[in-house]
Amino acid sequence: MNTYIIILRLIHILCGVLWAGGIFMLHLFVIPAINASGPEGGKVMRQLSATNHFTTVMTSAATLNIIAGLLLYWNISNGLSPEWIHSPYGTTVTMGGLLAIVAYILGITINRPGVNRITKIGNDIAAAGGKPTESQVAEMTSIRARIAVNTRNMAVLLAITVACMAAARYLNGV
Ligand code: HEM
Repeated sequence: MNTYIIILRLIHILCGVLWAGGIFMLHLFVIPAINASGPEGGKVMRQLSATNHFTTVMTSAATLNIIAGLLLYWNISNGLSPEWIHSPYGTTVTMGGLLAIVAYILGITINRPGVNRITKIGNDIAAAGGKPTESQVAEMTSIRARIAVNTRNMAVLLAITVACMAAARYLNGV
């Protein structure tokens, strides 16, 4: 029994489910609900970002998924053997992994700072008595729109990753 591989697969798949599932949920349900709620939606978004360390949990799950994925990749490709990488199995896992890494970069460069900025503006508004200025409203609206588009892009990338990961090992006729 290969305990190392089992542990890596558990970390990889559990964190992948949390990360990709969270992004699908945000894109399909949470963000549309927030957008449909007008100004109240902004409050929900701020509360979401402050609940149970939302951004930290999502970033940690994505990071662990990728680290475990890269270790599995090293193992399954026998230390990056070109023969495996160019097989249908290898090409499909490589493509899925690369798309997930692009989604990760989008998440940490756009969503994470965006959510943190919304939280900061929300705290400033609360400290100033609860009434946002026009420029605060405009900035939050533009960040929310950017997060919505970026989350949709991440959801598409991660859906392709999940399909690649699910199918890869059967493409060599194993
Ligand atoms: C949200 C992103 C991801 C999800 C949901 C995901 C999901 C999965 C799943 C369910 C498997 C099991 C497939 C099977 O046993 O047939 C798997 C395997 C694998 N994943 Fe991912 N994965 C993700 C990202 C990545 C990344 C970024 C890499 C890095 C290159 C990667 C590398 C691998 C490798 C090498 C395997 C094969 C392991 C084996 O057959 O033992 N994955 N992945």
